[in-house]
Amino acid sequence: MRVKEHPILSSLDRIPVVEIIVDGIAVPAREGESIAAALMALGRLKLRHTHKTSSPRGVFCGIGRCTDCVMTVDGQTNVRTCVTPVRAGMIVETQNKPDKGE
Ligand code: FES
Repeated sequence: MRVKEHPILSSLDRIPVVEIIVDGIAVPAREGESIAAALMALGRLKLRHTHKTSSPRGVFCGIGRCTDCVMTVDGQTNVRTCVTPVRAGMIVETQNKPDKGE
């Protein structure tokens, strides 16, 4: 879900759509929004899994403090996706994928 019209920020249509690769699949995102926001707009809420139990994690704090949203971005692990802006062509990968499912 996205806010498409905002009284201060104006229309979503003025922000260019770019393509990013998420776990090998090309998806649209708005240039400059956070990676986590782009993924949530696509309906994806689980961004990583814990090491010990493979429990899913997603955005918790939304301000770069908790690390629940970390993913691998352009080969760099543990990138906080809630505070990392989208760039065209960036490659985003899930860390600690569970062995089965999802
Ligand atoms: S949601 Fe807490 S660091 Fe990103």
